Amino acid sequence: MNAPSNVETALPCRATAHSNIALVKYWGKRVGTDPDLNLPAVGSLSMTLGALRSVTEIHPDSSDSFTLDGATIEGLAATKVYAHLDRVARLAGCSSRPPCRVVSTNHLPTAAGLASSASGFAALTVAAAGAFGLTLDFDLDADPGEGEGEGEGDLRARLSAWARQGSGSAARSLWGGFVRLDAGSAEDGADCLARPIYAADHWPLKLLVVHTARGAKAVGSTGGMEASRLSSPYYPAWVETSLADIDTADAALGARDFAALGAVMEHSCFKMHACMLATQPPLMYWNGATLEVIREVWRIRAAGGPVGYVTSDAGPHVKVLCLAPQADQLAASLAAVPGVHEVQAVAPGPDASLERIES
Ligand code: PMV
Repeated sequence: MNAPSNVETALPCRATAHSNIALVKYWGKRVGTDPDLNLPAVGSLSMTLGALRSVTEIHPDSSDSFTLDGATIEGLAATKVYAHLDRVARLAGCSSRPPCRVVSTNHLPTAAGLASSASGFAALTVAAAGAFGLTLDFDLDADPGEGEGEGEGDLRARLSAWARQGSGSAARSLWGGFVRLDAGSAEDGADCLARPIYAADHWPLKLLVVHTARGAKAVGSTGGMEASRLSSPYYPAWVETSLADIDTADAALGARDFAALGAVMEHSCFKMHACMLATQPPLMYWNGATLEVIREVWRIRAAGGPVGYVTSDAGPHVKVLCLAPQADQLAASLAAVPGVHEVQAVAPGPDASLERIES
């Protein structure tokens, strides 16, 4: 790994990071620590998604700009992007940050509960690492080599921790396959680390992403989490029971025990939504079709059809985990539920990557 030079101009590069969906959820931030560390109150366990990804290029320019899916973005969303670039430059040891033209493409619906912030901040973090010369060989898994500071860890793990500062779920998108993020307890976040636990080819599972709405969600996750912490009477129970769910899911994945994985995945999802619903005012991210899809998955399962287990995030879409050979049949049934716009079958995806480009 190369130490960052103090780059005068950004080095042009392109990063790709795949989205991820938590099978065991994160909802809530740790209090009493530096808010910029964005430490979670609970850990989480996710599957990285093959088809859904963000691609972010950084080019040198005379001033900062941000384009998302071809549209120039200004205001809060752009400010967040520039603040994250500042953060990565600072963490990488650059004394100043060169201006950047950031060009992002989301191959997934943005801000609709489909984890665009996970892939978006992961891709931005990786691209910034390349642009600021943190990894001149563009190999995120390069051996840190001798002479590096003690405890720095490999570059991918460091970038994961930096991505978390932009968005909690982004920490998991540095790796493919199945990823565990431990909440940790150190005040500086040193033990709040994500790590890959099973590779993408560990088990041929598919996640059916059932789209039940178009457009952006009403309440962002950061505000929602804080509201739950402050007002949901179920929040303490949610936090207390999370680690056991992560351990159960980790073991079920290891044993390829689909019923055990599905049970704990649904339990985590409905506990999180119960906590959200008991928030004042209530956080209700679902629409009617969300509920119809959940009921249909359960009906088919009880009737001896293809077995699926549901989860859903801070948005109305339903994600259904199933065994790959049953994915097409289950997807066809769910596509027929009134209110469903689209069903995408997604396999476990790859690691985040970085490449050099011409500007
Ligand atoms: O990373 P954020 O701030 O977008 O929060 C993600 C929260 C959930 O998607 C609801 C759960 C999770 O673990 O991804």
